[in-house]
Amino acid sequence: MTEVVTIQKFDDIATICIDNPPVNAAGHAMRKGVVDALDTLEADPAVKAIALYCAGRTFVAGADIREFGKPSQPPVLPDVCNRLEASSKPIVAILHGTALGGGLEVALCCHARVGITGSKVGLPEVNLGLLPGSGGTIRLPRVADTATTIKMITGGAPISAEDALKHGIIDRLEDGDPAQVAVAMAKELRDGKLKARVTRDLLVNLSADKMSAARSKFEALGSKGVVALRALRAIEGATKLVNEGLAAERALFIEALASDEHHGLKHAFFAERAVANIPEAKEPPREIKTAGVIGGGTMGSGIATSMLLAGIPVTVIEMAEDRVAFAVKTITGNLQGAVKRGKLSQQAFDATVAKLTVTTDMNSLSDVDLVIEAVFESMEVKHEVFAKLDAVCKTGAILASNTSYLNIDEIAKAVTRPQDVIGLHFFSPAHVMRLLEVVVAGKTAPDVVATGFALAKRLRKVAVRAGVCDGFIGNRILAHYARSTGYMMMDGADYEQIDNALVGFGAAMGPFTVGDLSGLDIGWAERKRRAPLRPAEERYVGVADKICEAGDFGRKTGKGYYVYWPDGSKTKNPDVAQFIADEQAERGITPRSFTDKEIVDRYITAMIVECARVVEEGIALRPIDVDAVFLFGYGFPRHRGGPLCYADKIGAQTLVARINTYAKDDAYYWRVPAMLQKMADDGTTFADLNKER
Ligand code: 3HC
Ligand code: NAI
Repeated sequence: MTEVVTIQKFDDIATICIDNPPVNAAGHAMRKGVVDALDTLEADPAVKAIALYCAGRTFVAGADIREFGKPSQPPVLPDVCNRLEASSKPIVAILHGTALGGGLEVALCCHARVGITGSKVGLPEVNLGLLPGSGGTIRLPRVADTATTIKMITGGAPISAEDALKHGIIDRLEDGDPAQVAVAMAKELRDGKLKARVTRDLLVNLSADKMSAARSKFEALGSKGVVALRALRAIEGATKLVNEGLAAERALFIEALASDEHHGLKHAFFAERAVANIPEAKEPPREIKTAGVIGGGTMGSGIATSMLLAGIPVTVIEMAEDRVAFAVKTITGNLQGAVKRGKLSQQAFDATVAKLTVTTDMNSLSDVDLVIEAVFESMEVKHEVFAKLDAVCKTGAILASNTSYLNIDEIAKAVTRPQDVIGLHFFSPAHVMRLLEVVVAGKTAPDVVATGFALAKRLRKVAVRAGVCDGFIGNRILAHYARSTGYMMMDGADYEQIDNALVGFGAAMGPFTVGDLSGLDIGWAERKRRAPLRPAEERYVGVADKICEAGDFGRKTGKGYYVYWPDGSKTKNPDVAQFIADEQAERGITPRSFTDKEIVDRYITAMIVECARVVEEGIALRPIDVDAVFLFGYGFPRHRGGPLCYADKIGAQTLVARINTYAKDDAYYWRVPAMLQKMADDGTTFADLNKER
């Protein structure tokens, strides 16, 4: 036995307990421990039935992801599963928490499964670019119907124990402590009150129609359907002889382990967690019982909604009564949306709305623990608001700004307590988007930073620590690479082709469609703000300004780069071609054609360049923090792991060579960051840097 697996005997029944914190992953010690425990209990003639359960917060939540890519140490999980299934003594698995992936596969090899109320089961391997690799695709269709099998294995979302019972995946639901339930259920198994079955012996009845419909659906998705399609191929093996099916599944699993999708998705999984590792991680956060939000516009309403959904009472301050009414309507509308999506019960809706106050009276913030300012993007207005907050708020209250670009050190100059000032930069829509940039200014106190991270957790968001600069991590990088699309358009690439090429790369929407959707006036205002800061050498593209000057701001006015028709379709705005042609003539540009590959290469290279600078300057702690920003705030394709994970795949030498080639046309925009040059010279990678820091 190993330290993580222990056995206990109670007369003629026994329990096997796995205790491998934090999530009882099926690492080597657990696997060896389970096999040793079985050897011991099988050899003991007194033992008639066995229950397998876990200590801590969950049943086995899967294979140990950290072991992937390393040489496997026997016994491997498929062998452990087969060993459990072949046990001469019946075994019941007691599932609590989240029985996921290899955990559910272990349970499917036991001879009965009992779920503790509130638990969930699932096969989330596709979320890591994988497929169940320990018999899940062969055994699940032996207990569940085809639709459930396809949904769970190719979709990856867990289901509740109640649903698992309905679909035959578990045999029983019980309340109570897993250790106690284990003893009770082992006795029932011994007495035949809980029926023992060997999953591999059950008949499989896969619906050919449902399988073929799923196949067509995933094939139509192209590169986005690859992972699901591979998983579906494994399920097809369920109709073969069991051992043949298991071998085919294993081969597909090993193929998946070597795939780019797995590499990217595994990186994304760890990125979500790695960002919590900050210098202030051990600081006790300040307590946030109540909060205030200044400004109930697009962002303020979303931020207030997010806090209300987390149960935090919120007071929103607006300028005038009509704006108060607008904020109330928006926030209650957002909450109603949450009810519709099943995120909030109707009963909880009333209680949640009761926690909202919207008023014009700033004095109502005298007792709140945190205020987030989301007023117009102007330093003058921010200074005015922060000076008022300084006068009104209690000692120790955190004063945060949701500014997109402005300098937090500068904002802090308006108060007598700069240690309490921080940037909490939410993304639109704030109650949906998971990213929260926590912007740490020069004088921000460490416990205020820790509070930002604790708040993100309560709001179920991913917090990333950022330093102060124009646009912090995400918007600064965006401002840089967004220019590359304008340059390509001016040099002759059709902007619809640019949109389509980037969708082909995995973006949810092309950049020109996104510009239309968020409103071209936002970028217009930003360009005006930056105009005095713009270096003389910087190339400028005035097409978007001309669209705005014509009164077209994108989707909200029905026209931008595209014209939006009442039937939901869109076509290119014919005026834009003229704006482009005029500017090309003015600047003496002879348009040329671009391939889709060149478009993607230039766009991604421009993004990587600024990402590297942000890491170089210490604005982001590590490359993986930049990846998290783009994964959770900007819709970067998750299976590519983030821009700097993808940069390693391209390779620093290739990137440097590309930049030097592009620089022949625009030596100001295309400059090699020192960090990237060093990597090209010494063969190191962003992944190496992640390990170092
Ligand atoms: N292997 C290794 N480490 C894991 C892990 C796993 N399967 N699952 C979680 N962890 C680690 C996390 O990295 C984190 O580590 P950290 O504290 O050092 O950052 C710690 O456990 C706690 O995880 P969370 O912060 O995510 O804890 P939550 O309570 O919020 O969530 C969870 C728990 C729902 C289990 C969530 O961690 C999760 O979804 N894990 C992944 C589950 C999964 O994908 N399983 C399938 C694995 S692939 C597989 O099983 C292949 C098989 O078919 C052969
Ligand atoms: P908005 O124009 O929709 O809302 C601003 C609100 O603030 C208005 O309702 C206005 O009445 C109110 N307001 C202005 N001055 C006020 C004052 N002194 N007291 C009380 N209320 C006041 O603007 P939006 O888009 O919500 O942006 C707000 C802030 O959030 C800006 O700093 C912006 O840069 C930032 N931001 C915006 C994002 C977006 O996508 N819109 C994303 C992330 C940050």
